[in-house]
Amino acid sequence: MKRRYNNRKPKNAGDSARKVELEKEEIKKCSSVVKNKWLLRVGTAFLALFIVYLSVPFVLYCFPWIVGHLVYSHSFRIPFVDLSHPEDFSLNHTVNFYLTPEEGITVGVWQTVPDNQWQKAQGKDLEWYKESLKDSTPVIVYLHGNMGTRALSHRVELIKVLSAAGFNVLTMDYRGYGDSTGQPSEAGMTADAVYLYRWVKAYSGSSSVCLWGHSLGSGVATNAALKLQSDGFPVDCVILEAPFTNIYEEAAARNMVYWMFPGFENFIRYTLALNNLSFPNDENLKTLRSHLLLLHAEDDNIVPFHMSQKLYHIAKDAKNKHVRMETYTQSLGYSHNGIYRDPQLSRKIWQFLQLLQK
Ligand SMILES: *[C@@H]1O[C@H](CO)[C@@H](O)[C@H](O)[C@H]1NC(C)=O
Ligand SMILES: *[C@@H]1O[C@H](CO)[C@@H](O)[C@H](O)[C@H]1NC(C)=O
Repeated sequence: MKRRYNNRKPKNAGDSARKVELEKEEIKKCSSVVKNKWLLRVGTAFLALFIVYLSVPFVLYCFPWIVGHLVYSHSFRIPFVDLSHPEDFSLNHTVNFYLTPEEGITVGVWQTVPDNQWQKAQGKDLEWYKESLKDSTPVIVYLHGNMGTRALSHRVELIKVLSAAGFNVLTMDYRGYGDSTGQPSEAGMTADAVYLYRWVKAYSGSSSVCLWGHSLGSGVATNAALKLQSDGFPVDCVILEAPFTNIYEEAAARNMVYWMFPGFENFIRYTLALNNLSFPNDENLKTLRSHLLLLHAEDDNIVPFHMSQKLYHIAKDAKNKHVRMETYTQSLGYSHNGIYRDPQLSRKIWQFLQLLQK
C-alpha cells in the first residue's frame, strides 16, 4: 500500500486532490487496522477470562480438597513455633498437654488458670491444673478459627484477658492444626470439641463450662453444643465471636469476581458439600437451648456483621430465652480479630454468666 502511494508522484492540482483522497483512504484503512487490533485484544482478554472461568471450577472439580484446605487453612502457620512451651508466649500459668479424642488422633491443649494464681502455678503438673477446674470459677473452652495455631497473637491475647478476668481457659488445636495429628474435617473438629468439653466436665465439679467459638470455631461450637445437647449433656453456655450463618453464605460473602458468572454459586455449594462442609450455625441455633452470647464488630471484614444479627433473630424466634448480643461500632476498629481489646469484655462476660445462676 505504502509503495503504491509513494510511486504516485503528484504533478499538478488534480494529482494533489488525488493525494488527499489517498491519504484519507490510508487513514481509514489504518484506523480499521487499529480497530481490528483492539478488537483482537478484547477478544483475547475475553478468551483468557473464559479459560480462567472454566479452569477454576474445573481445577476445583478435579481437586475438591482445595476448597477444604482453603476453609480450614490449617497449613498456614508460622514455622518453628514450639507449642509445648506456652511460657514462650508469656503464658506462665499454662500447662500444655495432649488428649486422644479417638484412636490415632492426638490434639494439643493448653489450660490457663486465672492469673491471680500464676505464682502458685509455677512448676505444677497437669494433676494440679485438673484440680483447679473444681474451684467453681467458670471455665471457658476456646475454639479458635481457621488458620494458624492456638499461639496466634489474638488468641493468646484473648486467653490473657479471660484469665485476668478470673476464668480457667482451655484452648485446643483441632486435629490437623498445630501440633495435633490427623487431618481436619467438620465432623472431626466437632468430635474434638465434644471430647474436650466432656473431659473438662469430668473434673470441673459444679463450675459452669462455656464453649467460646471464634469465626470458623463458631461452627465447631454450635455443632458440638448441639451434639452434647442431643446426647443429654446440654452445654452451660455458648459464646460466639464473629460467627457466620453457615459456610455457604460465608463463602458467598467472599469478594470474588466469580460470583458474576452464572452457576458459580451452586458450584461452590456443591464443592463445599463434597468436602462435607456446612457448619450450619443458623440451623443449629434453631434447636440449641444453651445460654447464648453473640459478639460481633460492625467493621468485621471477614464475616459480615449482619450474619450475627440474623443468628440473633433465629435464636430469639426459636424461643431461646437466653440470647444476648454485643455489637461493636465501626469506630472502635475491632474488625474480625480484635474484640479482645474491648476494655469492658470481662465485665460483659461476667454479667452474661451471672444469668446462669438464675
Ligand atoms: C506471669 O504472668 C502473670 C499473669 O500474666 C504476670 O502478672 C506476671 O508478671 C508473670 N510473671 C513473670 C515472672 O513473668
Ligand atoms: C464425606 O462424607 C462421606 C460420607 O460419610 C465420605 O464417604 C467422604 O469420604 C467424605 N468426604 C471428605 C472429603 O471427607
